[in-house]
Amino acid sequence: MTSSIRFLMCAPHHYEVDYVINPWMEGNIHRSSLETAQEQWQNLYQIIADRADVDLVKPQQGWPDMVFTANAGLILGNQVVLSRFLHPERQGEEPFFKEWFEAQGHQVFTLPPELPFEGAGDALLDREGRWLWAGYGFRTELDSHGLVAEWLNIEVLSLHLMDERFYHLDTCFCPLTNGYLLYYPPAFDAYSNRLIELRVPPEKRIAIEEADAINFACNSVNIDSLVIMNKASDELKARLAEAGFEVVETPLTEFLKAGGAAKCLTLRVTEPLHPEPAKTGLLSRTVTMTGHLLDSGLVSRALDLVMEGGGSFQVLNFDLGEQRQSTSSADIRVSAPSQEIMDEIMAQLIDLGAVALPAEQQDAHLVTITQAGVAPDDFYSSTIYPTEVRVRGEWVRVQGQRMDGVIVVSESEPVATCKLLRDLAVGDQVIVGYDGIRSVRSTKDRSRAAAATEEFSFMGSGVSSERRVELIVEQVAWDLRRLRDQGGKVAVVAGPVVIHTGGGDHLSRLIREGYVQALLGGNAIAVHDIEQAMLGTSLGVDMKQGTSVRGGHRHHLRAINSIRRCGSIANAVDQGVLTRGVLYECVKNDVPFSLAGSIRDDGPLPDTKMDLLEAQADYARLIEGCDLILMLSTMLHAIGVGNMTPAGVKMVCVDINPAVVTKLADRGSLESTGVVTDVGLFLSLLVKQLDRLTQRHVVVQ
Ligand SMILES: NC(=O)c1ccc[n+]([C@@H]2O[C@H](COP(=O)([O-])OP(=O)(O)OC[C@H]3O[C@@H](n4cnc5c(N)ncnc54)[C@H](O)[C@@H]3O)[C@@H](O)[C@H]2O)c1
Repeated sequence: MTSSIRFLMCAPHHYEVDYVINPWMEGNIHRSSLETAQEQWQNLYQIIADRADVDLVKPQQGWPDMVFTANAGLILGNQVVLSRFLHPERQGEEPFFKEWFEAQGHQVFTLPPELPFEGAGDALLDREGRWLWAGYGFRTELDSHGLVAEWLNIEVLSLHLMDERFYHLDTCFCPLTNGYLLYYPPAFDAYSNRLIELRVPPEKRIAIEEADAINFACNSVNIDSLVIMNKASDELKARLAEAGFEVVETPLTEFLKAGGAAKCLTLRVTEPLHPEPAKTGLLSRTVTMTGHLLDSGLVSRALDLVMEGGGSFQVLNFDLGEQRQSTSSADIRVSAPSQEIMDEIMAQLIDLGAVALPAEQQDAHLVTITQAGVAPDDFYSSTIYPTEVRVRGEWVRVQGQRMDGVIVVSESEPVATCKLLRDLAVGDQVIVGYDGIRSVRSTKDRSRAAAATEEFSFMGSGVSSERRVELIVEQVAWDLRRLRDQGGKVAVVAGPVVIHTGGGDHLSRLIREGYVQALLGGNAIAVHDIEQAMLGTSLGVDMKQGTSVRGGHRHHLRAINSIRRCGSIANAVDQGVLTRGVLYECVKNDVPFSLAGSIRDDGPLPDTKMDLLEAQADYARLIEGCDLILMLSTMLHAIGVGNMTPAGVKMVCVDINPAVVTKLADRGSLESTGVVTDVGLFLSLLVKQLDRLTQRHVVVQ
């Protein structure tokens, strides 16, 4: 024994493979030899006891895995976070380990019953004590990391385990003395590998091959320059020797049958406690979140965002609302290894409603534009959500809120406005970075935003059940009636599929009956609508027979030609050339329309705006003040409109492709509803439902 290092072990008197809770146990039930296990364990014990103190916890009948003391808990200094086992097969070990820790005078922290965390099996200290690597994905729940971080006052770097064979972090990851790391990269997701690479320099990373990984080479006990493991290949031994380590092999095959080896059989009790957090060059910011944080999953979403973005967190305070309806608040310290990563994370946290602590609040940083139409690289890019910015100590509401803009501040008044990059003028002052910016949605809205992801994953699976489509149609019909009665504003964004699927007549009716106040689309919706109105075909297909008409492929060109002769769609209506259809109804009912050009366009029609900046401005003008936007089977125009629509406007997107619906949801609109269905069918159901409402003479308030 050379040092004051101590380990906890548990003799394998009751060890055997009794059940299957990991892939290693499969096929091994009652196939281990107690005699060999005892001999192998004794050898390991002796190797460790020659170099450190070893304490023993009494083995208990009926708890065969108690031999794997790494899962007793996580120790740091005098504090222990007791394990909460995921599987009932191991939960009975908890009180025995708790008793042992308490008997040693440790302060024991206990996680809530439904929050699994499997101790030092899933939480490994950097050997310099700078931070804690914590695994999740199989046995340990990510949410437990926040509590561990708070209780032990240490930075936690969460790693997502992906391979079921490596179900605990210590089966594929082993921090070694002097900042070295032995690990098996394929056991982790891409983000986790990136995080590891950010923290551990290449010369200190010892990545192993699968052959060593399945011999549990990472499940090693490291004492100073010694690495004790079941088995290592010659290459691995050489690589470790090069880094100054000596490998001691001791066969632990009987324990491999239960999915464990040297590290699993030990718990290091003396872990270094760093009086001050080591300097890592990390950036840290503290934000506060308020709302129904647990009910809505908002806090776990925020923590996920931090992790997915490449940062880590510590939950500093968590004030739980006392009653169901009362709000909670959490202060979260976010750490990131670079400014770029911190900026990305902060942008998303601001969207979720996180704000800097009052003491840390600063004015927004302004930079003056020196080249028209060009912003500084670190400009803040706006979202659809109502936003406030801090100017000379005061929070100012941003005007003209839209997505993908920059915020220009006039300090004298002060006024803050969203502007497009191309509209920036020399001398404009734009916000850079994320200081002094907050999103001002209500708690309820933010909760709905968090829930929206789930909603849209459902949509994304393409399983909009018939009943669900009906329910949405009923809701949309109700909204259309209500808005028409109240003088609200509805815009329809439509693609040519509306006409191909026989929805043209239904859309015409909606316009004629006053349900639509603006129509937006491209050249195609108008061309195909006019072709159908004049020649009875859409792209040459007879809309009544459903068959191709001889020479029909030229029909859309003939339609375009007729309108060009008249000079505009409105002229064609006035001259009696165009007598029915969607565009006809727009002209007749004074419903403004805008047709934005594209590279695909034939003709184009004289009304189609081929100057896209002009078209964008026209779209923005038409959707101003809208209450509801119906997006009907046009990916291009629906997404274009989605990007320029502020939060608060209800959007309904109908498309046969779930990816389009999800894409619109990705902009994070709270009010988006997606319907994965045929647009012709949707429109026919919609007019039927409106008829029903009318027949019943329902007065919609
Ligand atoms: N002749 C022309 O001038 C011409 C012809 C076609 C398109 N265009 C132009 O090209 C641009 C893009 O056209 P777009 O908006 O049609 O294409 P788009 O690819 O942007 O969108 C078409 C959408 O319709 C969806 N869809 C297909 N079948 C459907 C169904 N039965 N029910 C519901 N959704 C369905 C698709 O999934 C897709 O998302 C527009 O500007 C358009 O005007 C011009």
